[in-house]
Amino acid sequence: MNHTRYLAFLAITLTISSFSLSASQELHREAVGLVKQFGATLKPQLIQAMQQGGPVNAVDVCAAKAPQIAYELSEQSGWNIRRVSLKSRNASAVADAWEQKVLKEFESQLVAGKPAKALEYEEFIAGEYRFMKAQVTTPLCLKCHGSNVAPALQEKIEIHYPNDLALGYQAGDIRGAFSLSFKPE
Ligand code: HEC
Repeated sequence: MNHTRYLAFLAITLTISSFSLSASQELHREAVGLVKQFGATLKPQLIQAMQQGGPVNAVDVCAAKAPQIAYELSEQSGWNIRRVSLKSRNASAVADAWEQKVLKEFESQLVAGKPAKALEYEEFIAGEYRFMKAQVTTPLCLKCHGSNVAPALQEKIEIHYPNDLALGYQAGDIRGAFSLSFKPE
């Protein structure tokens, strides 16, 4: 390749790589925003329901609202948005193979001392941009995901989720993750 052609080649390569960098940065920004929006919509409703009618009431709210919020955010944004777990409550939250791998990786990173808030992962895979952000168990979560769930509450959970696996967590454990994907045109 002569010098001029090489420079032209370099310029094109740089243009393409800077474009794809900003495209993936944009997708990352959108994904983080959607996760924030999901959390900021669900959490106040959960807390309010707990305060108004205790956790037994809040289970109904969570069971109805969480899937609804995921559905509405997906419809509005064009992204596929769900919550997943290695031990899921809702059968539709069972992690696929890729999500399982990422969740296990989050667990090792947490053990290795990475701050919970920093546990996120992105990858372009099979023509899709995929993003996950961990959700760590806090004391608030233990009422419904801990080891000593009150019997009346447990019964209520079993009515909605006969195959519930999302119990026995301790504060600081990874409860699950937000999992988002987007197929660029
Ligand atoms: C009032 C009881 C209650 C509390 C408190 C609660 N959850 Fe849940 N959680 C549920 C129910 C019910 C579902 C199933 C919702 C659904 O159908 O999407 C659920 C589902 C989830 C899921 C989706 C994956 C799965 O297992 O189905 C995640 C992740 C999750 N909860 C995390 C948390 C975290 C983190 C906290 C604390 C900040 C928390 N939850 C507090 C009741 C609760």
